[in-house]
Amino acid sequence: MSGETQVGIIGAGPAGLMLSHLLHREGIASIVLERRSRDYVERRVRAGVLEQASTDLLAATGVGERMTREGLVHDGIKLRFAGEEHRIDFRRLTGQGITVYGQQEVVKDLISQRLADGGDVRFEAEATAVEGIDDDHPSIAYRRDGEPATLDCEFVAGCDGSHGVARASFPPPLAGEGQGGGPRVYERSYPFSWLGILAKTPPASNELIYAYHERGFALHSMRSPEISRLYLQVAADDTMDGWPEERIWDELRLRLAEPELRAGEIIEDGITPMRSEVIEPMQRGRLFLAGDAAHIVPATGAKGMNLALADVKVLAEALTAWYRSTSRDLLDGYSDRCLRRVWRAEQFSAWMTALLHRDPAGDPFEHKLRLSYLRYIATSTAAATTLAENYVGFDTAK
Ligand code: FAD
Ligand code: DHB
Repeated sequence: MSGETQVGIIGAGPAGLMLSHLLHREGIASIVLERRSRDYVERRVRAGVLEQASTDLLAATGVGERMTREGLVHDGIKLRFAGEEHRIDFRRLTGQGITVYGQQEVVKDLISQRLADGGDVRFEAEATAVEGIDDDHPSIAYRRDGEPATLDCEFVAGCDGSHGVARASFPPPLAGEGQGGGPRVYERSYPFSWLGILAKTPPASNELIYAYHERGFALHSMRSPEISRLYLQVAADDTMDGWPEERIWDELRLRLAEPELRAGEIIEDGITPMRSEVIEPMQRGRLFLAGDAAHIVPATGAKGMNLALADVKVLAEALTAWYRSTSRDLLDGYSDRCLRRVWRAEQFSAWMTALLHRDPAGDPFEHKLRLSYLRYIATSTAAATTLAENYVGFDTAK
């Protein structure tokens, strides 16, 4: 091994932690640098839906025990709009379901397994630059306890989310396609955000409710029989100041068509912008991007965490092949292999977002088209299957 470790990983989110765990199982050493504290990352409330492939990966690699016990298996979702409710039966349409299990629980389980296995996860260690990615000895410059430090390694995995430093060490993006060399960034922003709350109130439904309302989208999810996770479409420039608790609950009751939804203590709240972004390719030399560092999806399709886990499964396989046989084939194919799944998720997430959100600049015609498509999904097996097979995770390797 040249340097302090084989794989330097930036970021202790689902991508970075899972990668470190998978590499450990293959006898490959890694060090994870995370700029936040352990407590912070374990409390950060984000996504909650795991596809079957994600639950399989967690279970098959020994980190799924609590998820299997506490995760809520759902066989479908409810769509509500214009006073109607329709259930999309994932199990019947695809043979698969989903598991509702909070992202921070996945993060907790992975951290505790890494530490039990003697893993080196350095919290409050902020990467500031990635160097030498075009030669054999890359390094990560970072700061810990205010002191500058360097991590020398053989490969760098940029798992540092959408605002991380790894992607910044790529050459500048090119303006157009087909010019060779640098990566291209494909992006789209949406004229609305999501206000999310985690609240101490029993879920009003045993399954997720995706609601389209004239006033905008709402989503009813959950974390346990006592804790609900609820979202509202809000204006892109809204802040929490404009949303006192009573307004949030009133709006949720109205849009979800759940007049009995009980207000409870709000444990966490926040506003998240809706964005789509893909960096293509996701690699350069000895640097590989994974998860949000390489792509962002609007949350409507519940794909973010699933893509992050899927990327690092592919990356771990490629790094394992390299360390077993010094074959670069799988490493070279990493980005292409991931991007097939990423673009499927991008299309699905953008489509679900357009289907269920009120565009502030849209006209009444658009509203009617949306209602018609929702009714089509509710009554056509073909249309419902399209939603279902993408929601549970479409296998692009087929
Ligand atoms: P992250 O979980 O973002 O992990 C990256 C890690 O890198 C973080 O711990 C960060 O602190 C660390 N880091 C960043 N920069 C540095 C640095 N310079 N040095 C060291 N460490 C660094 N998806 C859904 O499907 N549904 C949702 O409801 C949903 N809600 C979301 C709400 C918010 C506020 C955000 C930001 C995302 C949400 N997502 C949601 C998306 C989903 O949570 C992400 O796709 C998922 O977290 C991706 O995992 P990751 O490991 O790639 O990135
Ligand atoms: C949750 C988040 C999502 O983005 C989604 O589409 C469904 C559920 C959740 O946090 O539970």
